[in-house]
Amino acid sequence: MEVRAAQQSDLLTVLGWVNGEHECLMWAGPNIRYPATPETAWRDMEAFDENAYVLVDPASKVVGFGQVLSRGGNALHLARLIVEPRLRGQGVGRDLCAALVDIGYASQPAEYFTLNVYESNRAAVRLYQALGFEIKERGDSGVLAMVKTRKEGE
Ligand SMILES: CC(C)(COP(=O)(O)OP(=O)(O)OC[C@H]1O[C@@H](n2cnc3c(N)ncnc32)[C@H](O)[C@@H]1OP(=O)(O)O)[C@@H](O)C(=O)NCCC(=O)NCCS
Repeated sequence: MEVRAAQQSDLLTVLGWVNGEHECLMWAGPNIRYPATPETAWRDMEAFDENAYVLVDPASKVVGFGQVLSRGGNALHLARLIVEPRLRGQGVGRDLCAALVDIGYASQPAEYFTLNVYESNRAAVRLYQALGFEIKERGDSGVLAMVKTRKEGE
């Protein structure tokens, strides 16, 4: 598996993994209009080829997606992580998340990563906690703000 820059057309595959408005909200937050097309989602998530990435399998099939967003000099933000449903629960999300953190730190000497996740999204919250993210704040609408400080060697 490898990570490459995403293109708008990759969202055709990614959007096929999202069943309904609730799943879309859990994945991408309230700024993505629903129903989404690759064009509307790409625009709504302010994606471009240096902040959006796909994970591809050895046959070049897209199996994961995520964004690394710059939040000023010191912070990077992980967003919109998703794994193809049939591959979930096998460590793919963990690997993708770790790869995106590495890509972020290689692009910018940031001191920490942030992310937002719905508290009801147990799989995602547990994944982020397993990777060292800690809850910083419980916001409105059941959203947790999580943060992970850069460790030596990252
Ligand atoms: C969240 C998501 C990316 C996780 O991907 P994944 O490939 O299934 O995750 P992994 O197999 O790498 O699991 C890593 C850890 O996450 C947690 N986890 C994953 N799936 C879980 C589940 N169904 N229930 C509870 N914990 C879960 C576990 O702690 C797991 O570690 P373990 O296997 O050692 O117990 C995936 O479920 C997904 O695409 N969800 C839909 C989109 C979404 O909601 N994204 C989050 C946006 S904030």
